[in-house]
Amino acid sequence: MERVFQRCIYPRCAAERAVDDTTFVCPKCGGLMDVAYDWDRLSPPPSLREFEKKWAQRNQPLNFSGVWRFYELLPFVPRECVLTIGEGQTILQQADTVADYVGVDRGRLYLQYEGLNPSGSFKDNGMTAAFSHARLVGARRAACASTGNTSASLALFCSATGLMRAIVFIGSGKIAFGKLAQALDYGALTVQIAGDFDDAMQRVQEVAGRLGIYLVNSINPFRLEGQKAIMYRVLEALDWEPPDWIVVPGGNLGNVSAFGKAFIELLELGLIRRAPKLAVINAAGANTFYELFERRGLRWNNGTPSLEVAQQHFAKLRSENIRAQTIASAIEINHPVNLPKALRALERCGGVVREATDQEILDAKAKVGAGGLGCEPASGASVAGARKLRREGIIAPGDRVVCILTGHQLKDPNATVAYHSTDQNTFDEVLGKRGVKRATFANRAVQVPNHLDDIIRAVELYS
Ligand code: F0G
Repeated sequence: MERVFQRCIYPRCAAERAVDDTTFVCPKCGGLMDVAYDWDRLSPPPSLREFEKKWAQRNQPLNFSGVWRFYELLPFVPRECVLTIGEGQTILQQADTVADYVGVDRGRLYLQYEGLNPSGSFKDNGMTAAFSHARLVGARRAACASTGNTSASLALFCSATGLMRAIVFIGSGKIAFGKLAQALDYGALTVQIAGDFDDAMQRVQEVAGRLGIYLVNSINPFRLEGQKAIMYRVLEALDWEPPDWIVVPGGNLGNVSAFGKAFIELLELGLIRRAPKLAVINAAGANTFYELFERRGLRWNNGTPSLEVAQQHFAKLRSENIRAQTIASAIEINHPVNLPKALRALERCGGVVREATDQEILDAKAKVGAGGLGCEPASGASVAGARKLRREGIIAPGDRVVCILTGHQLKDPNATVAYHSTDQNTFDEVLGKRGVKRATFANRAVQVPNHLDDIIRAVELYS
């Protein structure tokens, strides 16, 4: 056995592929693949505290990266193949006013702000890993389907390194402007498909297969290796003591899969004693995972999930032409490619799935903006979900809760401006037509004539 290889996620199949294979599907059963390690022949650290030594060597690019400073926990590529652009300099912020909103005790709620990444979302954690793998196999072109953040990240990595050509597939009209701006500005070949993300995802796999283009969607298990590092940084910020809950928005379910794998490996290596529970929050208009896990009882079941239940659900969506619909365009996805890995993560760590309406998402997002670091709508789902779980009593007031803010506030300015707008037409145009009734926490601009006395009166009145 090699020290690093790819292995089918289903234990009863467990087919293997070499580390440099780029098909990313099981040759025997067509299932998803994991990056697998023979830890006995590698050198995992004896304790997580070992990583602290690297802080003193931040002048070395691998130690500066918030992903590669944990190299020993994702050693699938030789160090000299690693491509980093300084991703993962993100922070865990204690947010007490958001804690009040969620209903947990002050000092117990944290926001992991992945919007601080170079392209403004958590995707850079995974992209550095996929890119390093792409370099290992000598790829010249890389492609993805995207709701906007994967494409921004891929485009940035291509422009910053000059090593590959970026080809991004997006659903026409299905992407927030900040994200589209990034793909165009970074010079990616941007293919707008007359369809939504689920259509684009299917097409990119066909095209990449036909043309031999390297695929960086989260079906690529190397990308998920990089996203494990988000959890290493959360642990690091909490002095290596796992929180009680990680709450994360769910779209293609790459994050929850990566987080689950991170904790499963840390448990196996004896580096933590317990894993946090995982809560995945779907948008109500794109709630496949919620429907399958909570309503139809689909479980990993020790590696034998009844995937027919999922197939029936997808067949119904197709026959009734039901499309994903939410203001949180990042998670406007009905066919999550990582569904089985997400089931495994919830079984091994324990966890739940909830859905949040666009109203709940936008109100939570406004609370994050007013008392945290600001985020795009999809990220607001994690706070909306935490609040719901607290109300249900599943999260206790004293639990330590980490909500992942997956993307930056400026990714989707339209949604934010419409929420706070004084103009009913602007509100209706963007939000009202989606069933959002009110901007509960709007901070409205004050209109004043351009006269000094009027301006002073307004400032005195409102401040
Ligand atoms: N939050 C943001 C801001 C995202 O961009 C995404 C996914 C998610 C959450 C969901 O994460 O797929 O790991 O469950 N965006 C992808 C994209 C689909 O194309 O940018 P997931």
